[in-house]
Amino acid sequence: MRFFLTTAIDYVNSRPHLGTAYEKITADVIARYKRLSGFETHFLMGNDEHSQNVYKRAIERGLDPRAYCDQMEQEFRASWTQLDVSFDDFIRTTESRHTAAVRKLAQTCFDKGDIYAGTYEGWYCVSCEAFKQEKDLAGGKCPLHPTLTPEWIREKNYFFRLSKYRDALLRHFIDTPSFLQPDGRRNEMLRLLEAGLEDISVSRAGQLWGIPLPFAPDNVVYVWFDALINYAAAVGYGTDEARFSTWWPADLHVVGKDITRFHTVVWPAMLMSAGLPLPKQVYGHGWVNFGGQRMSKSLGTSLDPSDVAARFGPDPLRLYLVKEISYGGDGDFTWERYEERYNVDLANNLGNLVSRLSAMAEKYRQSRLVPAGTGGRLAQVAEASLARYRSAMDVFALHDGAAAAFQIVDAANEFIAENAPWALAKNPAQAAQLDAVLFSVAEAIRVAAVLLLPVMPGSCAEILRRVGETTAVGDLRLDRDGRWRGDGVRTIVKGAALWPRAEGGPNGPPLRPDARSVNVEADLQVRLKETPVEETPAAPAAAAPDARISIDDFMKVELRTARVLEAEAVPKSRKLVKLKVDLGTEQRTVLAGIAEAYQPDQLVGRTVVIVFNLKPATLMGIESNGMVLAASAEGGKPTLVAFAEPVEPGWRVR
Ligand code: MSP
Repeated sequence: MRFFLTTAIDYVNSRPHLGTAYEKITADVIARYKRLSGFETHFLMGNDEHSQNVYKRAIERGLDPRAYCDQMEQEFRASWTQLDVSFDDFIRTTESRHTAAVRKLAQTCFDKGDIYAGTYEGWYCVSCEAFKQEKDLAGGKCPLHPTLTPEWIREKNYFFRLSKYRDALLRHFIDTPSFLQPDGRRNEMLRLLEAGLEDISVSRAGQLWGIPLPFAPDNVVYVWFDALINYAAAVGYGTDEARFSTWWPADLHVVGKDITRFHTVVWPAMLMSAGLPLPKQVYGHGWVNFGGQRMSKSLGTSLDPSDVAARFGPDPLRLYLVKEISYGGDGDFTWERYEERYNVDLANNLGNLVSRLSAMAEKYRQSRLVPAGTGGRLAQVAEASLARYRSAMDVFALHDGAAAAFQIVDAANEFIAENAPWALAKNPAQAAQLDAVLFSVAEAIRVAAVLLLPVMPGSCAEILRRVGETTAVGDLRLDRDGRWRGDGVRTIVKGAALWPRAEGGPNGPPLRPDARSVNVEADLQVRLKETPVEETPAAPAAAAPDARISIDDFMKVELRTARVLEAEAVPKSRKLVKLKVDLGTEQRTVLAGIAEAYQPDQLVGRTVVIVFNLKPATLMGIESNGMVLAASAEGGKPTLVAFAEPVEPGWRVR
């Protein structure tokens, strides 16, 4: 059983925003659901680099476009990793595997007579990277980019005979209603097909940035014709035919509603022309707005997903986007609503349930729960929720899948109230009943956490650990572990509150629509500059009362001990050393601005202190995951923070 799914590949003229993150997160939920259901899953994402806007942005920054795209790749990968998006492959359209596939497909269509030379005269919206007809414009402007004036272009182009495939496409839409979902999007495309199709331009003349057409190298392939081919290129089209036949056709393309036409009309016609099978399904998701407004950089309504994830971690954001927005429809994000949902679903409901169980298990049963009872009504709710969850998730009604899992959480809270374990505990004659109640609550939490694993992978893994699940998370399977198992002794593990209640206010989220994080590279440079490693600290003085921070603020900075395993100088850098450090539970690469004070071999074996929960940043092409602490005197060299007594890697410093 295999499942190959993809997301749209992103233009890299700007950083990810909450809208593009929405697509990656929801596709990740599907990928994780498929893995949990036992599919061998291949989840592809990537970057769309041959856009005119990307080229322009690179030139504006004084960078070679490729170097610019290399930097942006790091930024995108860091964002997706921070959001726990578990892609298996990440393709870039400047890679050779992609170029090979584009050349092969373009040549195949040309040899078939489906690509011919002509002249294009008309409008072009650079932001959409799309040729526009008069009827597509409103008052002479592209409705999606009203601040820009479309360009009038007249150039010799190569055209693709899209019109030739209109009947075959219409037939495919009618015969295979599942091809495009949800139904609203399918109806839109049906109407478009019924109205007829015109041939489309597939090259741009006089441009340097792009893949030259193999049969007319003075022209570059039009960015959309180029980009769509990434899905086939990534699984070997043009480079590894055996692999291609294993994974193609794709099972699912997840894309936004604005680009379903490219994916369900243009792309299938290209594949038909090349004699290749069509993707099985395209899902056109809706739009996420910010405070009711379209996310847009120029309007200051763009929100950086890293800023949102920084507030409560990635999982509450993932849950919000999945549970609060009906998949397929549009949705909205506001900080107020986000905090409200966080408190209701996580702090007060699921988080509180886990804390209550561990406290009761410890108090009444020394944290050891033996299998007892059948689970009664709670077990019935869990089984019914599993059925609802599966039928929702199988048709990508992700919001309903999440709601089904929360039914179990609600039922478990009610079950505790009805059975009052604290009252049972007072009467030794009711010991067996108390065993059954506690075990049932643990089992209900376990089932809910399995169902929610695709949505909140990190937190659910922790919940499963706390309720004594011994199967490794990657080995859990829905048809076995999503059921009421009622087996095995459960050792309950106590821990800090998973989601402390959020009060907002000064410690709350930035409430301005333009609150954005700075470019990570600049960010690191600034940090390297500002850290005492490089700069003279001001004479210590009592902070003004209103500038002082609370203990909660301080505790947000997670400082941990780390042992240096490897150290090497960073080529061409005067200050940077690249360290590989052991944190007890994991190993990481961290850059430190200490090269002027320490030789790499003096560092190996030392214990240092690092800021553990710092956003990753890329410098000199290396991703740094943390910051090493050091002190320095006026104009002096940095001295690493060290310990007088022995410590182990991974200890928290506070
Ligand atoms: N590069 C093209 C896609 C080529 S796929 C072969 C592109 N890139 S994009 O960066 O503009 O958009 C990437 C994806 O994010 C698209 O699926 C788009 O619909 C989606 N979204 C962009 N803004 C969005 C929201 N505000 N909300 C939800 N999805 C959004 O188009």
